[in-house]
Amino acid sequence: MTDEPGFATEQVHGGFLPDTTHGARVPAIHMSSGFLFDDFDQARDRFAGTDDGYTYTRLGNPTNADVERRVALLERGAEAILVSSGQAAATVAFLGLLQAGDHVVSARSIYEGTRGLLTQNLGRLGIEVDFVADARDLDAWAAAVRPNTKAFFAETIPNPKNDVLDIAGVAETAHPAGVPLIVDNTLATPYLVRPVEHGADIVVHSASKFLSGHGSGLGGVVVDGGTFDWSASPERWTHLTSPERSLGGQSHVDRYGTRAYVVYARDVVSSRIGPTPSPFNAFLLRQGIETLSLRVERHSANALAIAEWLDQQPEVTSVDHAGLASSPYHDLAQRYLPRGAGSVFAFTLAGGEPAARAFIDAVQLFSRMTHLGDVRSLILHPATTTHAGRTPEERAEQGIGDGLIRLSVGIEDVADLLRDLERGLAAVRGTAAAGREARLATATDVATPDVATADLALGHTVPAPHLIVGDR
Ligand SMILES: Cc1ncc(COP(=O)(O)O)c(C=O)c1O
Repeated sequence: MTDEPGFATEQVHGGFLPDTTHGARVPAIHMSSGFLFDDFDQARDRFAGTDDGYTYTRLGNPTNADVERRVALLERGAEAILVSSGQAAATVAFLGLLQAGDHVVSARSIYEGTRGLLTQNLGRLGIEVDFVADARDLDAWAAAVRPNTKAFFAETIPNPKNDVLDIAGVAETAHPAGVPLIVDNTLATPYLVRPVEHGADIVVHSASKFLSGHGSGLGGVVVDGGTFDWSASPERWTHLTSPERSLGGQSHVDRYGTRAYVVYARDVVSSRIGPTPSPFNAFLLRQGIETLSLRVERHSANALAIAEWLDQQPEVTSVDHAGLASSPYHDLAQRYLPRGAGSVFAFTLAGGEPAARAFIDAVQLFSRMTHLGDVRSLILHPATTTHAGRTPEERAEQGIGDGLIRLSVGIEDVADLLRDLERGLAAVRGTAAAGREARLATATDVATPDVATADLALGHTVPAPHLIVGDR
C-alpha cells in the first residue's frame, strides 16, 4: 500500500497553506491589485526576484497561487500558471516557446479556437503550423517535423469525436526531434489522465470546463511538467538560454534550471500580455476543483450509459464514444483512461440536419449551449456552430456530418437524461414521418394524416415535461 494520498484527498487538501493570521480553513479571496512592501529594500528585492513575496496581481496573487499549487500537484507538474481562460493558457504556453520562423505540428482534431490561434494569430506573427489528420499516425507526426519545429500540440480527448490521444506515442515521437509536447487536458482532467506521467512536457487547461464544473467563470492553466531539458540544445531555445540583464547576466536556464520555461512564461509572457484571472474567479475555480473526481466519475458513467443507449437506437447511425467496444479508440481509452473516456462525445442521426434540428429543439433538460464540462448536460450541433467556419468537405474529412450532435453529459440522474433524449428521438421520428407524409402527398396527391400518428405510437411515448429548466 502506498503512502501517497489519493486523488480525492489531494483535490481537497493539496497545496493548502495555513492562514497563520486568522486560521481561516478556506483560503481567503485576496482582491488586492497590489501588495505592500515593508520598506525600501524589500521593494527592491521583490523587483530583483531575490525576495519572492507578492508585488502586483498581474505577476502573482495568493488566491491564484493557491489554485496554481493545487493544479500543478494534481497534474504531477512542477509548477502552474493560472490565467483568465483556456485560450489565454494556450497563448501563454505557445508564446513561452515560439518566435517568428518557428513551426508547430498539431493534431487536426483540436478545439477550433486553438486552431484559429495557431493559424490566424500566431500565423500572422510568422509561426507556421501543420496538422496531422489522424493523430494515431505517429509516422505522420514524425514526417511533419522540420528543423524549426518547436512544439507538438494535441488534446487528450478532442471534441466532438472523443478520439483519445496516444500521449506516450506522440511524446516519444517529439522528443528525439528535440521538441516538447504540449497537451490540452481540458476534457480529461487529471482525474482521468495525467499527461505528464505519459511523457507530455506542458499541459494546458480551459479551467472554465470540468475543473470548475459550475459554469460560473472562465479560467485557464498552464502546467509545466518540469521535465524538458532546455539546455540539451541551447541554440533552439535562445530565449531561455541567453544571458538576461534582468537576471544579472544569467539565463533563465542558469537561474531556474528545469523551471526555466515556466518562469519565462509567467514573468516574460503572461505578466506582459496580462490575462490575469480575478482572484474571485480563482476562488470559484478552487471550489470546483475540490469535487472534481466525484463529478467526473458521475459525468463519465452517465455519458457511457447514454452512449450505449444511443448506440441501440435505429435513428442513430453512429456514436463516437471511446468507451464503446466498437470504437476505434477503445484500446487507447483502456490504456490511458481506465476511469472513463470522459463525457463529451457525439452521435449522428440518419436524418441529417433536419433530424438534428428537430432533436435539439425538442430536448428540455439538456441546455442548448456552447460550453463543456458543466454539471448541467449540454447539447450542440457542431456543423452549424463550432465548425460552421469549415467547409463541408473539411467537416466531412473530420467526420462531422450534418446529422452529428455533440453532447456534454452532466451529473443529473441518467434516467432523466435518457427521457430527455427520448424526447429528441420522438421529434426526429415525427420529422421523418412528416417528411414521408409530404413525399407521399406529392407523389399521390393523397393526404396521409395517419403516418405520423402511427410512427409516434410505436411504443415511444413522450413524457410530459416535469422539470422547469430556466437556464437557457
Ligand atoms: C479543449 C478546449 N481547450 C480550450 C478551450 C478554450 O477555453 P476558454 O473558453 O476557457 O478560453 C476550449 C473551449 O471550448 C476547449 O474545448
